[in-house]
Amino acid sequence: MLFMKIIKATDYNDMSKKAAMIISAQVVLNPHSVLGLATGSTPLGTYAKLVEWCNKGDLDFSDVITFNLDEYRGLTSEHEQGYRYYMNNNLFSKINIKPENTHVPNGVANNIEEECSNYDKQISELGGISLQLLGIGHDGHIGFNEPAEYFEKSTHCVNLTEETIKANSRFFENADMVPKQAITMGMKSIMQAKKIVLVVNGKDKKEILNKALFGPITPKVPASILQLHPDLTVIACDAL
Ligand code: PGA
Repeated sequence: MLFMKIIKATDYNDMSKKAAMIISAQVVLNPHSVLGLATGSTPLGTYAKLVEWCNKGDLDFSDVITFNLDEYRGLTSEHEQGYRYYMNNNLFSKINIKPENTHVPNGVANNIEEECSNYDKQISELGGISLQLLGIGHDGHIGFNEPAEYFEKSTHCVNLTEETIKANSRFFENADMVPKQAITMGMKSIMQAKKIVLVVNGKDKKEILNKALFGPITPKVPASILQLHPDLTVIACDAL
């Protein structure tokens, strides 16, 4: 049975707190959870709450394993706009997770195909993702699965759309500095996650969220595939 739960948050803090509560419940219920994590501006508040509760002693990440959705191609783990850096800086270095239990695709791997297939293999050897946290792009992307002719299943290398490059240029000196490619988890690992939590913030996401949740299921709106997930929770602030 398909089950989509939609929660309207009162503000960004409320959205972040609710998402963090669901992730916390997951970790309490299964301390060995495999969490799928997202980057971008939307989950920052969620990570801040997890850090706060972990530091208070209410949450224990010592046995948790994480896999991030994506990484820019060509950025090293030290690059300040890279997603490994973002995760270390906003979450991993501030909680008691073991660094070796955290996974972000290696954007500078020599053999990208091998990197991608190993990423999927590691996830499936652990039994898949217990809970996947997602954001959504203005073009409907999840991870860096951009609008396309078909849903790509496996972890793969993508060419970023002009819209994504423009949206992400706010984090770089200018649009020319934004990498043109990224490695992203594919739809298979995302859709096989036992539970998905989608956080969406802002009026500017209203139109795409509406299409994703209530429009036709099409790879032209990658997030629309989430309608088929059996346990999807959407926490939206100003976006419904
Ligand atoms: P944002 O990005 O949280 O910075 O809006 C979301 C995304 O592109 O997935």
